[in-house]
Amino acid sequence: MTTRINPSILSADFANLERELGRIATADLVHVDVMDNHFVPNLTFGLQMVQRLQEVSPIPLDVHLMIDDPDRWAPAYAEAGAFSVTFHAEAAGEPVSLARRLRDLGARAGIALKPGTDATPYLDLLPEFDQVLVMTVEPGFGGQAFIPETMPKLARVADAVQDAGLDVWLQVDGGITEDTIGIAAEAGANTFVAGSAVFNGAGAPAGRIAALRDAVAAHPHSHR
Ligand code: DX5
Ligand code: ZN
Repeated sequence: MTTRINPSILSADFANLERELGRIATADLVHVDVMDNHFVPNLTFGLQMVQRLQEVSPIPLDVHLMIDDPDRWAPAYAEAGAFSVTFHAEAAGEPVSLARRLRDLGARAGIALKPGTDATPYLDLLPEFDQVLVMTVEPGFGGQAFIPETMPKLARVADAVQDAGLDVWLQVDGGITEDTIGIAAEAGANTFVAGSAVFNGAGAPAGRIAALRDAVAAHPHSHR
């Protein structure tokens, strides 16, 4: 299994983002949380910031759009060069059309599900997506506790991906630490977002990233 660790810069020093990106250069992708204060009760940054991050980042951008009306706003993030653009199922009007547009623009297309959102309506749409983000906290803030009740849903999506013979990355986001990452790996995740565990943990981010990789490797993958 390929394991991807995507640090979330939501927990980084916003006044020194270029330096912070340099501290996570051993990660796979940098997770960029765009929040609009409508879809979630928090506000971060938008397209102009992402364009600049794209220019200076040593690793590709994994953009997580927690915004209303992604049908209107998401394509510009693909045009900016983001490696992946993930929008929320709860916010999208035409998720398949939007995913196709993102792919046409050269980005990986991702769909995110809040903890309370049923995956069933989206299982037949999996061929349209490159990644599925199963939120393991309510979106909006870093530093929250992992919600283990989301794991059966993750396992169902993992089963559907396998049954369909697809190569869809399964991502978890929220409360991922050395203590919880194995639970998510066991349920089928292969792409792990971690904000506070990377930037607020003991020692430098590179050590935290390595520790997260080790925690996945040490864990038995009983789901598969
Ligand atoms: C929450 C964001 C996450 C956040 C995770 O809405 O989508 O990416 O940064 O932070 P931690 O890892 O601290 O839970
Ligand atoms: Zn996120």
